[in-house]
Amino acid sequence: MSALFSNYGRWNLEIEKGSGCQVTDTQGKKYLDFTSGIGVCSLGHVHPAVTEAVTEQLNKLWHTSNLFQSSLQEQTAELLTAPTHLSKVLFCNSGAEANEGAIKLARKYTGKTKIITCLQSFHGRTYGSMSATGQEKIKAGFGPMVEGFEHVPFNDSNALDQAADADTAAIMIEVVQGEGGINPGSVNYLKYIGELCNKKGILLIIDEVQTGIGRTGKPFAFSHFGLEPDIVTAAKGLGNGFPVGAVIATEEVSSAFGPGSHGTTFGGNPLAMAAASAVMKEVFEPSFLEEVQKKGEYLKEELQNRLSTYEEVHEVKGLGLMVGIQCKGKVTDLITELQQNGILVLSAGEHVLRLLPPLTVSYEELRMGIEEISKAIKKQTVTA
Ligand SMILES: Cc1ncc(COP(=O)(O)O)c(C=O)c1O
Repeated sequence: MSALFSNYGRWNLEIEKGSGCQVTDTQGKKYLDFTSGIGVCSLGHVHPAVTEAVTEQLNKLWHTSNLFQSSLQEQTAELLTAPTHLSKVLFCNSGAEANEGAIKLARKYTGKTKIITCLQSFHGRTYGSMSATGQEKIKAGFGPMVEGFEHVPFNDSNALDQAADADTAAIMIEVVQGEGGINPGSVNYLKYIGELCNKKGILLIIDEVQTGIGRTGKPFAFSHFGLEPDIVTAAKGLGNGFPVGAVIATEEVSSAFGPGSHGTTFGGNPLAMAAASAVMKEVFEPSFLEEVQKKGEYLKEELQNRLSTYEEVHEVKGLGLMVGIQCKGKVTDLITELQQNGILVLSAGEHVLRLLPPLTVSYEELRMGIEEISKAIKKQTVTA
């Protein structure tokens, strides 16, 4: 019997090592990894620059409290804000914790409590971030949620307009809903949110935990749409597998968190900062991001070409290297079939096959993945 909680539905497969886009299981079988953890190891497994930076820091200093100055945090914060209009960073350890911080910050800055989020959104598993999440299945059995959240349909400007009133502190959105099914916000909708927030004096929080750090071919997905959020959250890809999260804000909004107002023991840990700095030095290079955009377009278009005639497939959607294949049936069997054929993929909800390959994936690896996925879907259609 396992000594672990059974809160994760685990596959019967253990990964022992990884390099780039490839992982090897405990039986020695190799897989092409189109999951990157869950959008975490964006530079591929055991990336040399990140390994070197963390190893160097490992031999220098592991931890000091946030009561001391930290030039490592300062440098990492500068890298994180450089491609944005934002100028302040609060480091933490996960996506949920970053969103928790963002929610607290928005309430404290505005003195208001209402936060509008979207149906099908996912913001985390802590009480604040779970309350923000627009999926009942995530909240079932956990009793009363934190008050003040109102959920509106995604990509519906009218619903947002009606919900946004004088008590509203913030609108919190994912530019592309990740866990909810790889649902991209439409250009008009996202533009409208920016205008609405400006017009009504409401803060805009963008949850970039899954979309950020180059995943969509820009440092943050909001920059595709000319948005200027007040608060942005990041985690997942920021440390390439080393746990780290961040709340990024305008100087004005950040000022609501004075000394003693919010904090965390491990936030901004030197090892995490070394990893995050090394990641951003690679990922935020314009030529790297351009490649991500091109590879993302290639992946989406090739899948669209290959799968458009398959009855099983409704749609191929996404942005950058964050791609979803909306299927008619449940994708559970498809995922295990692909595992048997040496490709690791994810789901997003029951009917969406989710692809989050490392941003460093080669065209050859993309071609292999596309081939195997097409074959597996075709086989399913024939056997269904
Ligand atoms: C958009 C988004 N926000 C928040 C989270 C929660 O992040 P974490 O699991 O690091 O707490 C996730 C995780 O999937 C996410 O996709």
